[in-house]
Amino acid sequence: MKRKYIIAGNWKMFKTRSEAIYFLLQVQDKLPSSELVDSVVCAQAPLLRDLVKRQGDNLKIGAQNVHFADSGAYTGEVSAVLLAELGVSYVVIGHSERRAMFNETDESVNKKIKQSLAYSLKPIVCVGESLEIREAGNTNEFVSNQVEKAIEGLSKEEVKDLVFAYEPIWAIGTGKTATPAMAEDTCKVIREKIGSLYDEETKEAVRIQYGGSVKPDNIDDLLSMEDIDGALIGGASLNPDNFLYMVNAALRH
Ligand code: 13P
Repeated sequence: MKRKYIIAGNWKMFKTRSEAIYFLLQVQDKLPSSELVDSVVCAQAPLLRDLVKRQGDNLKIGAQNVHFADSGAYTGEVSAVLLAELGVSYVVIGHSERRAMFNETDESVNKKIKQSLAYSLKPIVCVGESLEIREAGNTNEFVSNQVEKAIEGLSKEEVKDLVFAYEPIWAIGTGKTATPAMAEDTCKVIREKIGSLYDEETKEAVRIQYGGSVKPDNIDDLLSMEDIDGALIGGASLNPDNFLYMVNAALRH
């Protein structure tokens, strides 16, 4: 089964409003149609309204976090209701930076996925191990467990539409990319896990990105792997030419 590639930029806490709009103006007319590849940029919450106005068939906008409640006394949080009202398409859930610095847990990730789906936001669910876990030989078990907990209670139809991002923590922002073979091995483990929890159809449908120091000169090797259906890109996605190059890379595979 040929799955459509999804190339997403995670801008993290970078870009001012004018820089973000400039980026969109640079790439807007050059990105390929969503019939060929899904292109996404995930930006800081206050930028979303301006970016969504410029969202087109060839570029969708994502948030970087969402709360699991409809509304309430949660100072500083952003609701799925509001993201949906703004017209946001995707939401990154469970990024390792949020797990490490903002108390994100497997349980909150699961609730956030359910909340996002209830408002038709497409979750990009991040999983990945630390260097310590990899060196101890526990990567497969750790990542499989994160996946299982993230999707607990979800129907097959819901899981088929999810995007997973396998992001080894030791490769994020370090310039140390997992080798394509290493990235492929863990993405396959994720796919097999989904197959064992659901069925063959779900396993083949779900899209799995790799993230961690992806850049123009390594994206081709990563995308050539069988179980890697795209990339979640931090630093290298901030530059419009690099972003365009990496989206176009998907067309070559
Ligand atoms: P870098 O591409 O900067 O390593 O970041 C990866 C990442 O965390 C994307 O979510």
